[in-house]
Amino acid sequence: MASSEFALFMGQLLRRPHQIVALAPSSAVLCAEMTRELDPTRGPVVELGAGTGSITKAILDAGIAPENCHSIEMNPGFCDRLRSRFPGLNVHQMSAGECGTLPLSGVQAVVSGLPLLSMSTKLQRDILSGFAKLVAPGGDYVQFTYGPKPPVTKAVRDELGLTWRKSHKIWWNMPPARVYRFSQE
Ligand SMILES: C[S@@+](CC[C@H](N)C(=O)[O-])C[C@H]1O[C@@H](n2cnc3c(N)ncnc32)[C@H](O)[C@@H]1O
Repeated sequence: MASSEFALFMGQLLRRPHQIVALAPSSAVLCAEMTRELDPTRGPVVELGAGTGSITKAILDAGIAPENCHSIEMNPGFCDRLRSRFPGLNVHQMSAGECGTLPLSGVQAVVSGLPLLSMSTKLQRDILSGFAKLVAPGGDYVQFTYGPKPPVTKAVRDELGLTWRKSHKIWWNMPPARVYRFSQE
């Protein structure tokens, strides 16, 4: 990662710790696991909480065209950086809770770098309901977490009928993390 991305991330972490809730941008190993199942021949990808673009880069490295990737980020400084770093990327400065309003269909996956566990049940519900509206049948909501439990609360999982698969623990990340893939039954 370029030192300028790291400096921007750290500056915003000091200013808005409750929105970022991470010690550092996600590692390349974690980003590769998050994007491992993406397929350039399928529909668009929606990214939530793009930050300085660690996961965005892995989405594009997986062969997804920038025009086919929609990255949602609420922090204006991060949005400016994403626009200059990834020409052609669709950058939406908005809350992830409104992702269901994007005029998209047949989305293959929603890939999230959001601090979901620190969010209210209402905001989680809005985000996961948006996912359910956008995604093509069988599509996943991909989310990393540092903790031992699924990063979507039971109430929201039950309401939306979500089941999940989880990855092995990825030690090469600060802190170590797992990737969950949620889908609707
Ligand atoms: C842990 S950082 C992840 C950054 C990057 N995706 C990565 O993995 O390194 C969380 C990001 O989510 C953004 N964020 C937090 N709440 C949000 C919300 N409600 N809507 C959109 N973005 C949000 C923050 O501004 C921050 O960029």
